[in-house]
Amino acid sequence: MTHPENALPLDAPSRDGLAAQGLRYARLDDTETDAVDRWLQAAYRGFHFDAFTDEQLVQYRAGFGPTRSIGVWDPTAAEPESPIATVASWRSPLSFGEGRSIEAWAISLVSVAATHRRRGIARAMLEGELRAAHAAGIPLAMLTVSEATIYGRWGFGPAAYTADYRIDARGLRFTAPLPPGRVHRVSAAALRELAPELMRRAHAREAGEVPFDTQQFDRMFALAARTASHATKLRAARFDDEHGEPQGFVLYSVAEHPDDFAQHTLTVEYLSAATEAAHAALWHYVLDQDLVATVIAAQRPVDEPLPWMVANPRAVQTVARREHLWLRVLDVPAALGTRRYAAADRVLLRVTDALGFASGEWMLATSTDGTATVTAHVGEPHDAVHHDAAVVDLGVEALGALLLGGTPVDALRVAGRLAERSPGSAERLERVLRPTRAPFLSTWF
Ligand SMILES: CC(C)(COP(=O)(O)OP(=O)(O)OC[C@H]1O[C@@H](n2cnc3c(N)ncnc32)[C@H](O)[C@@H]1OP(=O)(O)O)[C@@H](O)C(=O)NCCC(=O)NCCS
Repeated sequence: MTHPENALPLDAPSRDGLAAQGLRYARLDDTETDAVDRWLQAAYRGFHFDAFTDEQLVQYRAGFGPTRSIGVWDPTAAEPESPIATVASWRSPLSFGEGRSIEAWAISLVSVAATHRRRGIARAMLEGELRAAHAAGIPLAMLTVSEATIYGRWGFGPAAYTADYRIDARGLRFTAPLPPGRVHRVSAAALRELAPELMRRAHAREAGEVPFDTQQFDRMFALAARTASHATKLRAARFDDEHGEPQGFVLYSVAEHPDDFAQHTLTVEYLSAATEAAHAALWHYVLDQDLVATVIAAQRPVDEPLPWMVANPRAVQTVARREHLWLRVLDVPAALGTRRYAAADRVLLRVTDALGFASGEWMLATSTDGTATVTAHVGEPHDAVHHDAAVVDLGVEALGALLLGGTPVDALRVAGRLAERSPGSAERLERVLRPTRAPFLSTWF
């Protein structure tokens, strides 16, 4: 059942707008098994995923509980009990790194049936989510996206990026210092027990991570019906520090080369490190396999230090880099006030937002201890300049892109998405926002 904290009221403008098109916008009654199954099948069909088997439905239904699931139904459709559009959402912490986090409204499974596209149904659902979250006082909305063309129009900006690496592992010498401790080969099932706590600690170090739910863990460890066929391929190793404490793990699989027994390809499926020592030891383990010519590691941090940990940095090729986590600021002081900053300064952010939630002039005053105060600015921008503040104009989607420090301020300025009101303002903002490590989200939701 929807968790009470996620049971935000249905948005009236969206409901009324869709009703005017003859469509019913409603919360899914998740106590009704058949209705839940139809909703799940519709949502996954929207992404062209395989239909669920009965066994898979049982598992997905069990994990369905806490989220708020909305559907849109068309009474004139051939199968009117199946929704023609879906969206799921829930409150989730978003890590800001250094053990800090903010509550965000996670939005997922946005789908509109091919028979009903491009008539404003997704718009109604998205605006409905944002108004509901804002009304509930949630400072930020977030999503991961199928296409990067969709969500900017609703004020989302790409805030964390991922990279895919292809590593030529033949004869590659590992040069980073190897920490005390040891790597153990373990079964994926045994590791599944430890993973939530290890990953909680690993995620607290990063800005951009969100907690996984039970079902995600089960799928990741090939313990769910939908991923069980992968169980024989999945391998696992764990790193314990010098005191015997587990500090990280890697899940991987190896694909055999069709004709050459010494040219296999190892795919890193997930590498989680709660300490730098675990990170180094696990990469060393991965690269030190005999009979493996190529290592593939997708969806890793863009600033993965791996090229610096081996003798031949060119062996570590970045084969893709893409935006991954999209953020939409709903409450500027709360969103900016949660993170820590790299320098002391004062920056006036003049934010425009078509939906109004973030619109205004906000003075971000950061201190040398990394904290900030964010206040609504009263007065003219030249007052702020006069008081020695940097001043920038930007849209709410640019603010979302900048929030975790993963998007270069100057790139937005050059691209015309941020304008300086006084010379050097973009550079000052960059100095304030710059993170030690690039923000990173290791999953999809
Ligand atoms: C993406 C999707 C949800 C859009 O639904 P829809 O009801 O057709 O969207 P709307 O009619 O409300 O369109 C709203 C706006 O988004 C634009 N848009 C919609 N889908 C788009 C896409 N895939 N790429 C670019 N723009 C898109 C529309 O042109 C419209 O633009 P506007 O600002 O001029 O009004 C739907 O096409 C879909 O289910 N796609 C497959 C699943 C998917 O990718 N979901 C997104 C998950 S992250």
